[in-house]
Amino acid sequence: MFLDTANIEEIKAAYSLGVISGVTTNPSLLAKEGKSLDAAIREITAVVDGPISVEAVSQEAPAIIAEAEKLASFHPNIVVKIPVNAEGLKAVKVLSERKVKTNVTLVFSVNQALLAALAGATYVSPFVGRLDDIGQDGMQLVAEMLEIYRNYSFPTQVIAASIRHPLHVAIAAKIGADIATIPYKVLTQMLNHPLTTLGIEKFLADWAKVSDAS
Ligand code: E4P
Repeated sequence: MFLDTANIEEIKAAYSLGVISGVTTNPSLLAKEGKSLDAAIREITAVVDGPISVEAVSQEAPAIIAEAEKLASFHPNIVVKIPVNAEGLKAVKVLSERKVKTNVTLVFSVNQALLAALAGATYVSPFVGRLDDIGQDGMQLVAEMLEIYRNYSFPTQVIAASIRHPLHVAIAAKIGADIATIPYKVLTQMLNHPLTTLGIEKFLADWAKVSDAS
């Protein structure tokens, strides 16, 4: 499970639980934090010992490649996110030959996912919630991608992204997505259950009666 945020407090809180093994960011998430890219990456790499996705914003393949190599030089854990389009694919191909890790992002179809794997993407991120938003079944895309990647033994890993609620995470795990990247809010929703809270209160109250009596 990865955390989908650029907020360092959320990253620290989630990481301390011991269940998060990486972080994904995007330009919108980084912009919300109002820090320089260098500062944000420095903070996150100091906490997270695992893949950290940071998106390239260049539009032409040579510029995407140059930006990706600069981002990757910040830290060995950096994975460069690249949107799936013609220029992006060209860049992913070159970067995979140069051993720069990539996360092909904004994937909304199995055809895009197939092309990304053929170009040598390390990770591919289907945006589940944004497909659900337009009345399609985002998790169906994840299932079809997994089937295709397994048919041809692609090493590319599927990151279920744009996760909106705990049910998304449960289904992603059930169908065998390699990774789900989740907002901090969804992580807390996964953990909390009213019956657990009530159960703890009752156990403590009953135990207090025994301790009071002795
Ligand atoms: C994925 O890597 C993206 O950062 C993210 O999951 C997008 O989610 P959103 O659709 O909630 O913005």
